Amino acid sequence: MAPTRPRAGGRVKPPRRPPAWHRGYAASRPVAYASIMARTTAAPAGLPDLTRVEATLRDLFIAAEGAGLRDEDRKKARELVPLLAEVARALGARSRPRLVVDAASGKSYVGLLAAALLPAGDALRVVAIEREPRHARAARDAAARLGVGGRFELTEADVGDPAAWPEAPDLVVALHACGPASDAIIARATAARARRLLLVPCCLSDAVEAMTRARAAAARLALPEQAEVRRRFYQALVDAERTLRLEAAGYAVEVVALVPPTVTPHNLLWRARRVDEPERQQRAEADLARFLGAGSP
Ligand SMILES: C[S@@+](CC[C@H](N)C(=O)[O-])C[C@H]1O[C@@H](n2cnc3c(N)ncnc32)[C@H](O)[C@@H]1O
Repeated sequence: MAPTRPRAGGRVKPPRRPPAWHRGYAASRPVAYASIMARTTAAPAGLPDLTRVEATLRDLFIAAEGAGLRDEDRKKARELVPLLAEVARALGARSRPRLVVDAASGKSYVGLLAAALLPAGDALRVVAIEREPRHARAARDAAARLGVGGRFELTEADVGDPAAWPEAPDLVVALHACGPASDAIIARATAARARRLLLVPCCLSDAVEAMTRARAAAARLALPEQAEVRRRFYQALVDAERTLRLEAAGYAVEVVALVPPTVTPHNLLWRARRVDEPERQQRAEADLARFLGAGSP
Protein backbone atom coordinates (compact mmCIF):
# COMPACT_ATOMS: atom_id res chain seq x y z
CA MET A 1 0.00 0.00 0.00
CA ALA A 2 1.49 3.41 -0.94
CA PRO A 3 2.17 5.82 1.95
CA THR A 4 -0.20 8.76 2.08
CA ARG A 5 0.78 12.40 1.44
CA PRO A 6 3.33 13.94 3.89
CA ARG A 7 1.71 15.90 6.70
CA ALA A 8 2.80 19.44 7.54
CA GLY A 9 6.21 19.07 9.14
CA GLY A 10 7.33 16.38 6.69
CA ARG A 11 6.04 13.31 8.59
CA VAL A 12 4.50 10.62 6.42
CA LYS A 13 1.37 9.10 7.85
CA PRO A 14 1.87 5.30 7.92
CA PRO A 15 -0.59 3.33 5.81
CA ARG A 16 -3.55 1.91 7.69
CA ARG A 17 -2.99 -1.78 8.37
CA PRO A 18 -5.56 -3.86 6.50
CA PRO A 19 -7.54 -6.45 8.46
CA ALA A 20 -5.86 -9.85 8.82
CA TRP A 21 -8.02 -11.64 6.26
CA HIS A 22 -7.25 -8.94 3.70
CA ARG A 23 -3.47 -9.09 3.93
CA GLY A 24 -1.41 -10.79 1.29
CA TYR A 25 -3.94 -11.61 -1.36
CA ALA A 26 -6.65 -9.02 -1.66
CA ALA A 27 -4.65 -5.95 -2.61
CA SER A 28 -5.79 -6.04 -6.22
CA ARG A 29 -9.42 -7.07 -5.61
CA PRO A 30 -10.37 -5.89 -2.11
CA VAL A 31 -14.02 -5.30 -2.92
CA ALA A 32 -14.59 -8.72 -4.49
CA TYR A 33 -12.90 -10.58 -1.63
CA ALA A 34 -14.64 -8.45 0.98
CA SER A 35 -17.99 -9.56 -0.41
CA ILE A 36 -16.87 -13.20 -0.55
CA MET A 37 -15.70 -12.94 3.07
CA ALA A 38 -19.07 -11.50 4.06
CA ARG A 39 -20.78 -14.58 2.65
CA THR A 40 -18.90 -16.80 5.12
CA THR A 41 -20.83 -15.28 8.03
CA ALA A 42 -24.10 -13.85 6.74
CA ALA A 43 -26.57 -15.83 4.64
CA PRO A 44 -29.47 -14.94 2.37
CA ALA A 45 -32.81 -14.67 4.17
CA GLY A 46 -34.00 -17.96 5.61
CA LEU A 47 -30.69 -19.77 5.14
CA PRO A 48 -28.32 -20.75 7.96
CA ASP A 49 -25.72 -18.15 8.94
CA LEU A 50 -22.43 -18.69 10.78
CA THR A 51 -23.99 -18.63 14.26
CA ARG A 52 -26.51 -21.30 13.31
CA VAL A 53 -24.00 -23.49 11.49
CA GLU A 54 -21.49 -23.32 14.35
CA ALA A 55 -24.21 -24.11 16.89
CA THR A 56 -25.36 -27.12 14.86
CA LEU A 57 -21.81 -28.43 14.41
CA ARG A 58 -21.20 -28.02 18.14
CA ASP A 59 -24.40 -29.84 19.12
CA LEU A 60 -24.04 -32.56 16.56
CA PHE A 61 -20.43 -33.52 16.33
CA ILE A 62 -18.41 -31.68 18.92
CA ALA A 63 -20.42 -31.64 22.15
CA ALA A 64 -21.16 -35.31 21.49
CA GLU A 65 -17.41 -35.93 21.67
CA GLY A 66 -17.15 -33.81 24.85
CA ALA A 67 -15.18 -30.91 23.28
CA GLY A 68 -15.71 -27.36 21.96
CA LEU A 69 -15.25 -25.91 18.48
CA ARG A 70 -11.62 -26.02 17.32
CA ASP A 71 -10.10 -23.59 14.83
CA GLU A 72 -10.59 -26.12 12.04
CA ASP A 73 -14.28 -26.46 12.95
CA ARG A 74 -14.69 -22.68 12.78
CA LYS A 75 -13.04 -22.67 9.35
CA LYS A 76 -15.30 -25.51 8.25
CA ALA A 77 -18.33 -23.52 9.43
CA ARG A 78 -17.19 -20.57 7.27
CA GLU A 79 -17.09 -22.87 4.25
CA LEU A 80 -20.46 -24.40 5.07
CA VAL A 81 -22.36 -21.09 5.22
CA PRO A 82 -21.76 -20.18 1.53
CA LEU A 83 -21.86 -23.81 0.40
CA LEU A 84 -25.29 -24.38 1.97
CA ALA A 85 -26.47 -21.24 0.19
CA GLU A 86 -25.12 -22.75 -3.05
CA VAL A 87 -26.96 -26.01 -2.33
CA ALA A 88 -30.21 -24.11 -1.69
CA ARG A 89 -29.76 -22.16 -4.93
CA ALA A 90 -28.94 -25.29 -6.93
CA LEU A 91 -32.04 -27.09 -5.64
CA GLY A 92 -34.36 -24.18 -6.30
CA ALA A 93 -36.95 -22.53 -4.14
CA ARG A 94 -39.73 -25.08 -4.54
CA SER A 95 -39.85 -27.77 -1.93
CA ARG A 96 -40.21 -30.97 -3.94
CA PRO A 97 -38.44 -34.31 -3.44
CA ARG A 98 -34.76 -34.03 -4.30
CA LEU A 99 -31.93 -36.52 -4.24
CA VAL A 100 -28.60 -35.13 -3.08
CA VAL A 101 -25.31 -37.04 -3.06
CA ASP A 102 -22.69 -35.87 -0.55
CA ALA A 103 -19.57 -37.41 -2.11
CA ALA A 104 -16.36 -38.04 -0.12
CA SER A 105 -18.61 -36.85 2.65
CA GLY A 106 -16.43 -37.35 5.71
CA LYS A 107 -18.89 -36.90 8.59
CA SER A 108 -21.35 -35.51 6.03
CA TYR A 109 -21.51 -32.01 7.45
CA VAL A 110 -22.85 -30.77 4.10
CA GLY A 111 -25.51 -33.41 3.53
CA LEU A 112 -26.73 -33.45 7.12
CA LEU A 113 -26.85 -29.68 7.55
CA ALA A 114 -28.64 -29.34 4.20
CA ALA A 115 -31.29 -31.84 5.33
CA ALA A 116 -31.65 -30.24 8.75
CA LEU A 117 -31.26 -26.51 8.16
CA LEU A 118 -32.37 -25.62 4.62
CA PRO A 119 -35.97 -24.51 4.12
CA ALA A 120 -36.44 -27.30 1.55
CA GLY A 121 -34.50 -29.74 3.76
CA ASP A 122 -37.59 -31.80 4.59
CA ALA A 123 -37.90 -32.74 0.93
CA LEU A 124 -34.29 -33.92 0.59
CA ARG A 125 -33.05 -37.45 0.50
CA VAL A 126 -29.30 -37.52 1.08
CA VAL A 127 -26.97 -40.31 0.01
CA ALA A 128 -23.49 -39.85 1.46
CA ILE A 129 -20.54 -41.79 0.03
CA GLU A 130 -17.51 -42.19 2.28
CA ARG A 131 -14.90 -44.92 2.48
CA GLU A 132 -13.55 -44.26 5.99
CA PRO A 133 -15.58 -46.33 8.51
CA ARG A 134 -14.93 -43.94 11.43
CA HIS A 135 -16.39 -40.96 9.52
CA ALA A 136 -19.25 -43.09 8.25
CA ARG A 137 -20.15 -44.07 11.83
CA ALA A 138 -20.01 -40.43 13.01
CA ALA A 139 -22.29 -39.35 10.15
CA ARG A 140 -24.86 -42.08 10.87
CA ASP A 141 -24.88 -41.22 14.60
CA ALA A 142 -25.30 -37.51 13.79
CA ALA A 143 -28.18 -38.25 11.39
CA ALA A 144 -29.97 -40.17 14.14
CA ARG A 145 -29.40 -37.33 16.66
CA LEU A 146 -30.72 -34.81 14.12
CA GLY A 147 -33.82 -36.87 13.46
CA VAL A 148 -33.12 -37.06 9.70
CA GLY A 149 -32.08 -40.74 9.76
CA GLY A 150 -35.04 -41.74 7.59
CA ARG A 151 -33.89 -39.40 4.79
CA PHE A 152 -30.16 -40.08 5.10
CA GLU A 153 -28.19 -43.09 4.03
CA LEU A 154 -24.48 -43.57 4.03
CA THR A 155 -22.83 -45.88 1.53
CA GLU A 156 -19.44 -46.97 2.80
CA ALA A 157 -17.54 -47.17 -0.48
CA ASP A 158 -15.00 -45.57 -2.76
CA VAL A 159 -16.49 -42.69 -4.78
CA GLY A 160 -15.04 -44.35 -7.88
CA ASP A 161 -17.32 -47.38 -7.40
CA PRO A 162 -20.27 -47.05 -9.84
CA ALA A 163 -22.41 -49.28 -7.60
CA ALA A 164 -22.24 -46.64 -4.84
CA TRP A 165 -24.02 -44.03 -6.97
CA PRO A 166 -27.77 -43.54 -7.35
CA GLU A 167 -29.00 -42.78 -10.86
CA ALA A 168 -29.73 -39.17 -11.86
CA PRO A 169 -29.29 -37.32 -8.56
CA ASP A 170 -30.57 -33.75 -8.54
CA LEU A 171 -27.34 -32.55 -6.98
CA VAL A 172 -23.91 -33.93 -6.19
CA VAL A 173 -21.97 -31.90 -3.66
CA ALA A 174 -18.37 -32.59 -2.67
CA LEU A 175 -16.50 -30.40 -0.23
CA HIS A 176 -12.72 -30.88 -0.17
CA ALA A 177 -12.66 -34.05 -2.18
CA CYS A 178 -8.98 -34.83 -1.85
CA GLY A 179 -6.65 -35.60 -4.75
CA PRO A 180 -8.04 -38.15 -7.20
CA ALA A 181 -11.41 -38.26 -5.38
CA SER A 182 -12.37 -35.04 -7.23
CA ASP A 183 -11.73 -36.70 -10.59
CA ALA A 184 -13.59 -39.86 -9.60
CA ILE A 185 -16.53 -37.68 -8.52
CA ILE A 186 -16.54 -35.83 -11.85
CA ALA A 187 -16.47 -39.17 -13.70
CA ARG A 188 -19.18 -40.85 -11.61
CA ALA A 189 -21.47 -37.80 -11.24
CA THR A 190 -21.48 -37.20 -14.98
CA ALA A 191 -21.97 -40.94 -15.72
CA ALA A 192 -24.91 -40.97 -13.27
CA ARG A 193 -26.31 -37.94 -15.15
CA ALA A 194 -26.41 -35.70 -12.10
CA ARG A 195 -28.37 -32.53 -12.85
CA ARG A 196 -25.92 -30.36 -10.96
CA LEU A 197 -22.55 -30.66 -9.29
CA LEU A 198 -20.97 -28.42 -6.66
CA LEU A 199 -17.34 -29.48 -6.30
CA VAL A 200 -14.62 -28.00 -4.12
CA PRO A 201 -11.46 -29.97 -4.88
CA CYS A 202 -8.71 -30.27 -2.30
CA CYS A 203 -5.00 -31.08 -2.31
CA LEU A 204 -3.07 -32.21 -5.40
CA SER A 205 -0.87 -35.27 -5.41
CA ASP A 206 0.79 -37.57 -7.91
CA ALA A 207 -2.23 -39.86 -7.51
CA VAL A 208 -4.12 -37.31 -9.65
CA GLU A 209 -3.82 -38.61 -13.20
CA ALA A 210 -3.67 -35.12 -14.73
CA MET A 211 -0.53 -34.45 -12.69
CA THR A 212 1.44 -36.80 -14.94
CA ARG A 213 0.38 -34.70 -17.96
CA ALA A 214 1.11 -31.47 -16.07
CA ARG A 215 4.63 -32.64 -15.16
CA ALA A 216 5.26 -33.66 -18.78
CA ALA A 217 4.07 -30.26 -20.02
CA ALA A 218 6.33 -28.53 -17.48
CA ALA A 219 9.31 -30.53 -18.73
CA ARG A 220 8.45 -29.78 -22.38
CA LEU A 221 8.26 -26.05 -21.67
CA ALA A 222 11.47 -26.12 -19.59
CA LEU A 223 9.52 -24.61 -16.71
CA PRO A 224 11.84 -23.43 -13.93
CA GLU A 225 12.18 -25.74 -10.93
CA GLN A 226 11.06 -23.25 -8.26
CA ALA A 227 8.35 -25.04 -6.35
CA GLU A 228 5.88 -22.15 -6.10
CA VAL A 229 6.03 -21.51 -9.86
CA ARG A 230 5.59 -25.20 -10.61
CA ARG A 231 2.74 -25.63 -8.10
CA ARG A 232 0.70 -22.86 -9.73
CA PHE A 233 1.34 -24.29 -13.18
CA TYR A 234 0.31 -27.83 -12.17
CA GLN A 235 -2.77 -26.52 -10.40
CA ALA A 236 -3.83 -24.50 -13.45
CA LEU A 237 -3.50 -27.50 -15.76
CA VAL A 238 -5.35 -29.85 -13.42
CA ASP A 239 -8.12 -27.25 -12.91
CA ALA A 240 -8.36 -26.71 -16.68
CA GLU A 241 -8.66 -30.43 -17.37
CA ARG A 242 -11.40 -30.85 -14.75
CA THR A 243 -13.33 -27.93 -16.24
CA LEU A 244 -13.03 -29.27 -19.78
CA ARG A 245 -14.05 -32.78 -18.72
CA LEU A 246 -17.26 -31.40 -17.21
CA GLU A 247 -18.00 -29.29 -20.28
CA ALA A 248 -17.32 -32.22 -22.58
CA ALA A 249 -19.79 -34.28 -20.55
CA GLY A 250 -22.55 -31.78 -21.34
CA TYR A 251 -22.32 -29.38 -18.41
CA ALA A 252 -22.21 -25.59 -18.25
CA VAL A 253 -19.47 -24.77 -15.76
CA GLU A 254 -18.59 -21.79 -13.59
CA VAL A 255 -15.51 -21.67 -11.38
CA VAL A 256 -15.73 -19.19 -8.53
CA ALA A 257 -14.15 -18.50 -5.15
CA LEU A 258 -16.37 -20.05 -2.48
CA VAL A 259 -14.41 -18.45 0.37
CA PRO A 260 -11.28 -16.29 0.47
CA PRO A 261 -7.99 -18.23 0.39
CA THR A 262 -7.30 -17.24 4.00
CA VAL A 263 -10.13 -19.55 5.07
CA THR A 264 -8.69 -22.39 2.96
CA PRO A 265 -6.18 -22.36 0.08
CA HIS A 266 -8.47 -24.91 -1.62
CA ASN A 267 -11.16 -22.31 -2.03
CA LEU A 268 -12.48 -22.75 -5.58
CA LEU A 269 -15.96 -24.04 -6.32
CA TRP A 270 -16.88 -25.76 -9.60
CA ARG A 271 -20.57 -25.12 -10.26
CA ALA A 272 -21.73 -27.42 -13.04
CA ARG A 273 -25.22 -27.69 -14.52
CA ARG A 274 -26.19 -30.34 -17.06
CA VAL A 275 -27.41 -28.59 -20.21
CA ASP A 276 -26.96 -31.31 -22.82
CA GLU A 277 -26.59 -28.94 -25.77
CA PRO A 278 -25.05 -31.10 -28.53
CA GLU A 279 -23.16 -28.31 -30.33
CA ARG A 280 -21.73 -26.87 -27.17
CA GLN A 281 -20.76 -30.36 -26.03
CA GLN A 282 -19.04 -31.17 -29.34
CA ARG A 283 -17.01 -27.98 -29.08
CA ALA A 284 -16.02 -28.89 -25.54
CA GLU A 285 -15.07 -32.43 -26.58
CA ALA A 286 -12.84 -30.97 -29.31
CA ASP A 287 -11.27 -28.54 -26.81
CA LEU A 288 -10.62 -31.38 -24.38
CA ALA A 289 -9.03 -33.52 -27.09
CA ARG A 290 -6.83 -30.59 -28.10
CA PHE A 291 -5.91 -29.90 -24.50
CA LEU A 292 -5.01 -33.53 -23.83
CA GLY A 293 -3.07 -33.71 -27.09
CA ALA A 294 -1.14 -30.58 -26.20
CA GLY A 295 -0.50 -31.85 -22.68
CA SER A 296 0.78 -35.30 -23.55
CA PRO A 297 4.53 -35.96 -23.48
C1 LIG B 1 -10.88 -33.60 3.42
S1 LIG B 1 -12.14 -34.72 3.84
C2 LIG B 1 -13.60 -33.79 3.51
C3 LIG B 1 -14.80 -34.39 4.17
C4 LIG B 1 -16.09 -33.58 4.05
N1 LIG B 1 -16.53 -33.49 2.68
C5 LIG B 1 -15.92 -32.23 4.66
O1 LIG B 1 -15.67 -31.25 3.95
O2 LIG B 1 -16.02 -32.14 5.88
C6 LIG B 1 -12.10 -35.86 2.52
C7 LIG B 1 -12.93 -37.09 2.81
O3 LIG B 1 -13.00 -37.84 1.62
C8 LIG B 1 -12.84 -39.19 1.92
N2 LIG B 1 -12.33 -39.80 0.70
C9 LIG B 1 -11.16 -39.53 0.07
N3 LIG B 1 -11.04 -40.25 -1.06
C10 LIG B 1 -12.16 -41.00 -1.14
C11 LIG B 1 -12.63 -41.95 -2.08
N4 LIG B 1 -11.90 -42.26 -3.16
N5 LIG B 1 -13.81 -42.52 -1.86
C12 LIG B 1 -14.56 -42.21 -0.76
N6 LIG B 1 -14.18 -41.32 0.17
C13 LIG B 1 -12.99 -40.72 -0.01
C14 LIG B 1 -11.88 -39.23 3.09
O4 LIG B 1 -12.00 -40.44 3.83
C15 LIG B 1 -12.35 -38.01 3.87
O5 LIG B 1 -13.35 -38.34 4.78
